[in-house]
Amino acid sequence: MTKHTASQPIGIFDSGIGGLTVAKAIVNQLPNENLIYFGDTAHLPYGDKSAAAIQAYSIKIAHMLLQQKCKLILIACNSASAAAYELVKEYIASKAIVMNVIDPVVHFVRDNYAHKHVGLIGTKQTVNSNVYKKKIDALNAGITLTSHPTNLLASAIEEFGNRDVIDSLLNEYLSHPSLQQMDALVLACTHYPIVKDKIIHYYQNKIAIIDPSDIIARNVKKRLEHDHLLNQNGVGTKHFYISDYTESFANGTKLFFNEDISLEHYPLWE
Ligand code: DGL
Repeated sequence: MTKHTASQPIGIFDSGIGGLTVAKAIVNQLPNENLIYFGDTAHLPYGDKSAAAIQAYSIKIAHMLLQQKCKLILIACNSASAAAYELVKEYIASKAIVMNVIDPVVHFVRDNYAHKHVGLIGTKQTVNSNVYKKKIDALNAGITLTSHPTNLLASAIEEFGNRDVIDSLLNEYLSHPSLQQMDALVLACTHYPIVKDKIIHYYQNKIAIIDPSDIIARNVKKRLEHDHLLNQNGVGTKHFYISDYTESFANGTKLFFNEDISLEHYPLWE
């Protein structure tokens, strides 16, 4: 592994504001870390793109984050984690740590829901890749996983935040037969924790809603501790780059971080 120092930033990327749910959890747990966030708003949503397209975007973004000297690159998007994690890992090789948002959740489910019925919602890309099912089945922990794609949800959240207009989409998706009588539901898209309260309300608190944000942040912390790369003394700078300026992203960042955030347009695709 290339020699890194603790003060080097953590690079985080997603198609848009979804990864901010993870970035926020990382800021809470690791306030001294310097963060670089890339929202690929020019290509949002990732969920209905082909795996090949998502791989091409992810490699280009990972390259950019490497140029910014990131010690760790976190793919804060389930769709990209499903389609491109192995490829990005291979591309980055030993030049940085690469993490995805799927493995920490799979381990959490193994530790907490053996012999239980767990539901999952995610984009078409994530659900059709079957990546969660393959990984969970491989654990042989007696977990029954049923998944349902919630195709329009991420775009609607990107556009409307958590306003009422989301309710009818949630009613439609969550009433699907595969998402009943579960012990827990995994929010397998980093946009979904933004509407977590609505999902909790839909299920009337009868099932556990697994919001991966804190689980992922804990894993990032563990990994940095393990590699002696935890930034103990930094001031925690944050840089946000987007590939296309969108109003919703600008509003989203303000909503997540109660401070003045400078949003830089990074013309990765021009
Ligand atoms: N937030 C992303 C995910 O976790 C992508 C959503 C999208 O762009 O479709 O899957």
